[in-house]
Amino acid sequence: MLTEVIATRYVTPLREGGSLPGIVEADDLGTYVMKFTGAGQGRKTLVAEVICGELGRRLGLRVPRLVAMDLDPVIGLGEPDQEVQELLKASGGLNLGMDFLPGSIGFDPLAYEVGPAEAGQVVWFDALINNVDRSWRNPNMMVWHGDLWLIDHGATMIWQHNWPTAQAAAAKPYNASDHVLARFQPDIGAAARELAPQVTEDLLTEVAAQVPDVWLTDEPGFDSPDGLRRAYVEALLPRAATIHERITLEAPTKDRPSQAPGWLTDHVRPWPHPTKKDQQMQQDGGAK
Ligand SMILES: Nc1ncnc2c1ncn2[C@@H]1O[C@H](COP(=O)(O)OP(=O)(O)OP(=O)(O)O)[C@@H](O)[C@H]1O
Ligand SMILES: [Mg+2]
Repeated sequence: MLTEVIATRYVTPLREGGSLPGIVEADDLGTYVMKFTGAGQGRKTLVAEVICGELGRRLGLRVPRLVAMDLDPVIGLGEPDQEVQELLKASGGLNLGMDFLPGSIGFDPLAYEVGPAEAGQVVWFDALINNVDRSWRNPNMMVWHGDLWLIDHGATMIWQHNWPTAQAAAAKPYNASDHVLARFQPDIGAAARELAPQVTEDLLTEVAAQVPDVWLTDEPGFDSPDGLRRAYVEALLPRAATIHERITLEAPTKDRPSQAPGWLTDHVRPWPHPTKKDQQMQQDGGAK
């Protein structure tokens, strides 16, 4: 399992993120971007973060280190923002921490050049994990010390939301036309030759073992966390061998909405997000 640390101080909310991630310090003296089990997107986005982040790093892509962060909601008692308070209260126990990259800036395709080899690796990897959230609208990459770092793998592996149809869903093609690196002539063939043979059953099993048991319990159709881990392995393994043949790269869409699913984008609202109390007041007002 991921290394476990204890959250010691909630520093500040990260206002860019739809799931209201926060910067949190831990007992190992590290500073992390914390993603909460109590956020609207649910714990499956955290499972996806772990499986895809740990897989990406093992394939040689830059992904900040991940930890499991134990949260006692009491650390948020002095937090003035009601939405943050509610989130912390709903997230006692294990949450996800990603090493905070101090001084990093969000990737801008007009300001930073990526070579075809690296672009090919990132696009191939996103095709493998079916990442619908690395578009020019929302790159989900950081530039740190002059290098590209991949963050935010919550909107991947769509098949995990419906296991009975997972094998069929994982066999589907990947449309990379809106991918933020599509403009850099990604060399997908070279990436597939180098990376696909590394995605073995052993590697995927090791990666799935990093997910904390508590995020894998009570899934309908599975009687143990290990049974569910196996399902993640079985969806990714055959996809790795052939996905490069099914990647579409056309002109990016300009006016069509993002491919990201509604459950993800609906949470992207301008700050401050309305709190439950605001929503209740709106409903009460509307009912009158
Ligand atoms: N490890 C990190 N180091 C520095 N900044 C980070 C890190 N992780 C995330 N951020 C910053 O926080 C923002 C939100 O993070 P992230 O995209 O993971 O959250 P999210 O809630 O899934 O967002 P969304 O769904 O809106 O893309 C990022 O756009 C980035 O600016
Ligand atoms: Mg993001």
